[in-house]
Amino acid sequence: MSGPSTYQPSHPALQWFEKRLPLIGLIHSSFVAYPTPRNLNYWWTFGGILSMMLGVQIVTGVILAMHYTPHVDMAFNSVESIVRDVNYGWLLRYLHSNGASMFFIAVYIHMFRGLYYGSYKAPREVLWILGVIIYLLMMATGFMGYVLPWGQMSFWGATVITNLFSAIPYVGESIVTLLWGGYSVGNPTLNRFFSLHYLLPFVIAGVVVLHVWALHVAGQNNPAGVEPKTEKDMVPFTPYATIKDGFGMVCFMIFYAWFVFYIPNYLGDPDNYIQANPGVTPAHIVPEWYYLPFYAILRSIPSKLGGVIAMFSAIIVLAFLPWLDSAKTRSSKYRPLAKQFFWIFVVGSAASPRRASTSLPAAS
Ligand code: HEM
Repeated sequence: MSGPSTYQPSHPALQWFEKRLPLIGLIHSSFVAYPTPRNLNYWWTFGGILSMMLGVQIVTGVILAMHYTPHVDMAFNSVESIVRDVNYGWLLRYLHSNGASMFFIAVYIHMFRGLYYGSYKAPREVLWILGVIIYLLMMATGFMGYVLPWGQMSFWGATVITNLFSAIPYVGESIVTLLWGGYSVGNPTLNRFFSLHYLLPFVIAGVVVLHVWALHVAGQNNPAGVEPKTEKDMVPFTPYATIKDGFGMVCFMIFYAWFVFYIPNYLGDPDNYIQANPGVTPAHIVPEWYYLPFYAILRSIPSKLGGVIAMFSAIIVLAFLPWLDSAKTRSSKYRPLAKQFFWIFVVGSAASPRRASTSLPAAS
């Protein structure tokens, strides 16, 4: 991913293999010899933390799937039986459900880091857009995963969100019927969501490979936002970045473990411990915390179509950012006004969920 490798294995068997497939050379040039700006701060460890979380979600998810039953009559009970009867099933489930939240905490920090330091600007536009694609895939994966335990919030969340497509003129109703596989959220919906929830993390992994490839072509940005001038501005990835990333990962794991072992249901909704009931609508239908800023946009606009357009635009606009921001200076460190607007945006994003979850009646 970062040009031809100078790596020469010493063992004859490895030399034989390397001549036929220079895999170790690729790993060596990408994660050992790769030159890294020497002034990177801890906000740059979140890419590694995200890679780790993707691995955790895939491993725990694959094992959970061995015990889960994607059927409307059995899904809820199969999840309860995972927690109560399967050896360490409680651990698997809580690692996976809290892992989704941790994944989003990490991705939001990673994205805000990119916004602050102008990492989306040339020559990193493709790297950034690949990130936006990953983010969209993460949102779809998280949404479909939340439906699987088939609790009240799973069912009603799925109903509200899939219904949004009905706002599309002329074809909306047909799209919703197609998504559901019937005339309401039901067994076919649960089955296709399970299938896609299993598939998408592997698609994400593929896009992450492209993301890291694009990163290694453009080179990393840094807090100053000024491209490194000489070799003296760089250090080799190993040991410097590997140790720093490793330390970041351990700290993040401690934070994650605190949720898993002490407050495993803190980030979840109690209504999801009630089995899905199409006849009873919960008083408040709220998505998981990581969707709330977008849900707030959706519900702030009285027109359904207007709300849907505004919500999707708020995500899609990110992809155009490299061209919307025409400033010559990259990092907000040297852009006092951009710095102020950045923090207003952070506070706005964090405060908007209160509006989405408390002050409005349940969505139809
Ligand atoms: C599964 C999710 C993701 C993984 C595993 C991942 C992985 C990485 C890694 C390993 C790096 C290099 C280390 C670092 O700068 O932190 C990186 C850099 C970067 N990522 Fe991601 N990423 C993900 C999602 C995203 C998203 C959603 C965006 C933006 C929408 C994004 C934008 C960027 C940018 C702009 C850089 C370059 C940073 C710089 O050099 O300043 N990434 N990513």
